[in-house]
Amino acid sequence: MLQLKHIFKSYHVGDTVTHALDDVTISFRDQEFVAILGPSGSGKTTMLNVIGGLDRYDKGDLIINGKATKNFKETDWDAYRNNTVGFIFQNYNLIPHLSIMDNVELG
Ligand SMILES: Nc1ncnc2c1ncn2[C@@H]1O[C@H](COP(=O)(O)OP(=O)(O)OP(=O)(O)O)[C@@H](O)[C@H]1O
Ligand SMILES: [Mg+2]
Repeated sequence: MLQLKHIFKSYHVGDTVTHALDDVTISFRDQEFVAILGPSGSGKTTMLNVIGGLDRYDKGDLIINGKATKNFKETDWDAYRNNTVGFIFQNYNLIPHLSIMDNVELG
């Protein structure tokens, strides 16, 4: 359903380069419930931003339902965010009177 293949992503701030994702390969199955754990700064948010189509990877490929995203244009990412993925931030952009499920499904 969702596959990360040799994903790399770095941040460049001035002369400093941070390799946030360094050759990440992982597959998620349909209906699977997954928790990603790791110390602060280990790249969890970076990975979720990539999976959620909010941020771009530098190298590798993200396969969504069997389709490579390597050559996705911005409009393809827009469609993916609108139609395929639900993304809940930890503490903003939530609609308080809705349940977690309703918040996820709203998109
Ligand atoms: N926008 C950014 N610009 C520069 N460096 C960044 C940026 N976002 C993250 N980083 C760096 O990338 C690395 C991974 O950060 P990330 O936020 O993905 O980690 P995390 O696992 O989500 O951490 P936390 O548990 O604190 O939320 C860290 O070294 C962080 O400082
Ligand atoms: Mg984080």
